[in-house]
Amino acid sequence: RTWELPLLLLLGLGLGLRSQEALPPPCERFTATGSSCIRFRWPSSTLTTSSLWICHCLQLQTKSCRVSARWPRSTTIASPSSSCRSLSSNTSSPWGRSCCPGPLRTGKTAPSFCRRSLTPSCAPGQSSCTRSGRSWERRDSYWVMEGLLLSEMAETVRGMLQNFLDLVKTYGHIPNGGRIYYLQRSQPPLLTLMMDRYIAHTSNTTFLQDNIETLALELDFWTVNRTVSVNLGGESYILNRYYVPYGGPRPESYSKDEELANTLPEGQREALWAELKAGAESGWDFSSRWLVGSPNLDLLSSIHTSKQVPVDLNAFLCQAEELMSSFYARLGDNVQAARYKSLRDQRLAAMQAVLWDEQKGAWFDYNLENGKKNFEFYPSNLSPLWAGCFSDPGVVDKALKYLQDSQILTYQYGIPSSVRNTGQQWDFPNGWAPLQDLVIRGLAKSHSPQTQEVAFQLAQNWIRTNFDVYSQKLAMYEKYDISNGQPGGGGEYEVQEGFGWTNGVALILMDHYGDRLTSGTQLAFLIPHCLVAAFLLHLLLRWP
Ligand SMILES: *[C@@H]1O[C@H](CO)[C@@H](O)[C@H](O)[C@H]1NC(C)=O
Ligand SMILES: *[C@@H]1O[C@H](CO)[C@@H](O)[C@H](O)[C@H]1NC(C)=O
Ligand SMILES: *[C@@H]1O[C@H](CO)[C@@H](O)[C@H](O)[C@H]1NC(C)=O
Repeated sequence: RTWELPLLLLLGLGLGLRSQEALPPPCERFTATGSSCIRFRWPSSTLTTSSLWICHCLQLQTKSCRVSARWPRSTTIASPSSSCRSLSSNTSSPWGRSCCPGPLRTGKTAPSFCRRSLTPSCAPGQSSCTRSGRSWERRDSYWVMEGLLLSEMAETVRGMLQNFLDLVKTYGHIPNGGRIYYLQRSQPPLLTLMMDRYIAHTSNTTFLQDNIETLALELDFWTVNRTVSVNLGGESYILNRYYVPYGGPRPESYSKDEELANTLPEGQREALWAELKAGAESGWDFSSRWLVGSPNLDLLSSIHTSKQVPVDLNAFLCQAEELMSSFYARLGDNVQAARYKSLRDQRLAAMQAVLWDEQKGAWFDYNLENGKKNFEFYPSNLSPLWAGCFSDPGVVDKALKYLQDSQILTYQYGIPSSVRNTGQQWDFPNGWAPLQDLVIRGLAKSHSPQTQEVAFQLAQNWIRTNFDVYSQKLAMYEKYDISNGQPGGGGEYEVQEGFGWTNGVALILMDHYGDRLTSGTQLAFLIPHCLVAAFLLHLLLRWP
């Protein structure tokens, strides 16, 4: 049976707004905890839900987390190193408990609380707090924002954008997460795209004008700090990679990284730690994708993230360069518009030469060590479609053949992250919402009805998995096990409920295909309509 989606959406919004009015203002507890919260941004006069926090403090602190009674004790922050040092012994201060003082950054003398990562923190889309302090890291925020825009929460999106822009102004890049020890790593570059979605929704050219230079600054970071030159067939191409040239174990996984390093000769340990951090920067932490070429794909100690030229990173940057060109054109700066257009053209040519494989009909990560493409399947191999980073429209239909050849369309619960089962969380059998989106909206760009239909079918599979799990557990999850349609597992921590980007992607797909999607299973047939309504309400209210 089909969902009466538009009606339910409206219903959801209506109910949602009423129930939110009763909630306390979002920053009350926050200011009580840290009086430095003067740059807090909360669009109080808008239709936003109070169950969402967007905070920005003088100390590096950007939070997007649910209201939690445990907030004062449980949220952690990163702060600039000097104040961190002076406060870290002050146990009565909430800052003190969460700081990791200077020596930790070299990994030599970590305080025990850091080693065990005891301090919990809010993460997007969770009702409780986690150990890992992942607040707005990885590229969660882009998909969260898409969902917020569909929920008519553009002001909240502007608040989130402003937070990211402030981080770029302060640090020159967006750190991997809201802690001081994340400053050395960034996260996939989706800020320009976030701006584009906000501008497309609101036409707020003033906001664009005010912040265009900060967007440019963020892209400069990738040019200055993450560029690599590839020599191929007598030509030299400039592309990007994830690369974090800093040693020491990751503070958030200190003892694990230390133990892992102990399996290697001493001389290789610093390099291992740098590669683990680069893996974290990529958002795919961890995956056989970063182990490929090593003798044993099950051994995380052979990770070499920075030796790969990733398809998705370059697709994101290609898209960002195109968007910058159109932003500048819109603002009347034709010189900059032409500059970004030319950067994009260069990248397109480099991706065509280095990453594209005509015979297989897709793009592949390029291994800098052996000069070969990695022909394993990952959804990221099709990310240039999603990013609009191709010149020949025929490639979309080649991608369909690629998916068929890789037997990816036989998985009925969703698209796997890879076809290797390594126990890492970005591998089989886990499926992640953003990776579904990369493939689905990439294929949907095709003019061929057959490819369009496959895109729809993939969306249908994923939504059904979301819905069936929701029917059983009344929760959305960070990742799903696409071998059995259950919540996912593996990796370094327990599967998280919530969950911002899953909800964002579900809303995107329902927005695209709401007139055709069905819940379609026996179970769903038996349950009353109110569950469907609850599912939608959940998406609209209880996230990111
Ligand atoms: C410790 O933190 C508390 C609460 O933030 C503050 O009032 C106090 O002045 C701090 N003490 C020192 C020595 O910094
Ligand atoms: C980026 O490179 C510049 C110039 O080499 C350096 O000063 C800066 O610390 C680097 N940023 C990061 C986050 O590593
Ligand atoms: C547009 O952005 C500016 C900040 O750059 C803000 O002051 C203004 O309120 C925004 N306008 C709308 C309609 O949201």
